[in-house]
Amino acid sequence: MKKVKLHNGYEMPLFGLGTFKTENGQTAYDTVKYALEIGYRHIDTAQMYGNEDSIGDAIRDSKIDRKDLFITTKQRFHSSVENMQKFFDESLEKLKTDYVDLYLIHWPNHDAKINAQTWALFEKIYASGKAKAIGISNFQIHHIEDLLKTAKIIPMVNQVECHPGLTQVPLNKYLKTKNIQLESYGPFMKGGIFEGLWKEKLGEIAKKHDKSIAQIVIAWGLSRNIVMIPKSVTPSRIKDNYDAQFIELTEEELLEIDALNRGNRVYTDPDNSPWGPYKA
Ligand SMILES: NC(=O)c1ccc[n+]([C@@H]2O[C@H](COP(=O)([O-])OP(=O)(O)OC[C@H]3O[C@@H](n4cnc5c(N)ncnc54)[C@H](OP(=O)(O)O)[C@@H]3O)[C@@H](O)[C@H]2O)c1
Repeated sequence: MKKVKLHNGYEMPLFGLGTFKTENGQTAYDTVKYALEIGYRHIDTAQMYGNEDSIGDAIRDSKIDRKDLFITTKQRFHSSVENMQKFFDESLEKLKTDYVDLYLIHWPNHDAKINAQTWALFEKIYASGKAKAIGISNFQIHHIEDLLKTAKIIPMVNQVECHPGLTQVPLNKYLKTKNIQLESYGPFMKGGIFEGLWKEKLGEIAKKHDKSIAQIVIAWGLSRNIVMIPKSVTPSRIKDNYDAQFIELTEEELLEIDALNRGNRVYTDPDNSPWGPYKA
């Protein structure tokens, strides 16, 4: 499995499993257990997904050495430092681990001062060794610029919506100047890659390789050195997505996929999210 070295030297697998809408209980347990059995070593969850508990059970029962796993979780929302510390401790408890590999701010607040306060706590958690890397999610360039005014540690990762309809080239160019790794979410564009111009071009490439459109999109992201975490609860898809790591696309094909960008955001716009207000 290909890995990328974050700016603090910590290694992150480029490919992993997303778990948004993977229901806590039997579904999350079976899904993660199966994924780990077939070779996944990187799991992405969040406090908001409500499934850390069952994911923790599956990880424990997999008997895989903790150091061979990469677990990401995300802070539910901005709050008082005391509450946020509690959120983090609860995550460790539910995931049944002493540390997470990556801890992310799930969404930026519209108030830069609140983001700065949250980040200062993340830096403390990082210093404690309970998060091997810390980062952000859904941060636009202006959010990062504001954060860097007070940050002592530059975030290691920014997880954002990224797929052939929204390739995030300008954001990624900026992230590279700061050594921040781009991580994609929503690789299948809420089904959009299976329709219209995306279906047409991706279908052509998929046919040439005798692979599925979903697999081609995963292979495209990985070839662009973007961390890819497709979500599925369907065993055959979990396996297909895993196998996509081994597809080699030509530079010409990669450029054809890059050209499908239409700035097509299908998830919430971080500048207009409802997750701004401070919750004490
Ligand atoms: N940071 C954030 O704010 C944020 C936001 C959204 C997502 N994320 C993370 O990113 C991960 C991925 O994003 P996502 O879950 O929104 O969307 P996604 O991975 O683009 O798509 C998941 C959907 O595609 C289906 N699917 C999976 N593999 C497929 C395949 N090979 N062929 C056809 N359909 C397939 C799944 O169905 P089945 O499950 O029924 O098989 C599910 O309906 C999330 O799970 C989460 O971990 C983060």
